[in-house]
Amino acid sequence: MITYEISCPIEPKQIVELRNSVGWNGLTDWYEKSLKNSYFYICCFDDKELIGFLDVVSNGVTDSYIQDVIVKPEYQCRGIGTRMMEMAIEKLKADKIYAISVLFEERLAKFYRKFGFHIMQAGQMETYKAD
Ligand SMILES: CC(C)(COP(=O)(O)OP(=O)(O)OC[C@H]1O[C@@H](n2cnc3c(N)ncnc32)[C@H](O)[C@@H]1OP(=O)(O)O)[C@@H](O)C(=O)NCCC(=O)NCCS
Repeated sequence: MITYEISCPIEPKQIVELRNSVGWNGLTDWYEKSLKNSYFYICCFDDKELIGFLDVVSNGVTDSYIQDVIVKPEYQCRGIGTRMMEMAIEKLKADKIYAISVLFEERLAKFYRKFGFHIMQAGQMETYKAD
């Protein structure tokens, strides 16, 4: 059964495995720290297996950033990414956070546009090379 939970207890290893499933790097150390500092995160499970994840970083007032939106390949295109985005946006609106940002590649513009994001230019850089 597919279930969604907000900021539930989770092992960093499960997120790293999910990241690896979509070809992303990920260090267990990152999530040991970042889960504690996250504004909130959303997990999607198929029974006990983590098959979707989304993280929200925020100062709690003016800005928030939705990152790490991941759905395990076998579960993609079934509405799970959309459901997690809707849950995140709904909670941020309820919490009266003024702005929500997201960074994405051009090929995902259709996916993000439908939630109402205005497409703007953005920049990002890595400050060190991750394994
Ligand atoms: C992007 C992602 C989270 C979407 O989750 P999902 O559960 O597959 O999405 P949904 O089923 O809710 O929505 C499907 C829509 O996503 C878009 N989409 C999904 N995967 C895509 C891909 N690889 N390339 C382009 N668009 C894609 C399509 O627009 C699709 O729309 P359609 O149903 O009209 O064809 C998922 O594909 C994923 O984890 N991708 C790898 C990691 C990634 O790139 N994350 C985004 C970081 S910004």
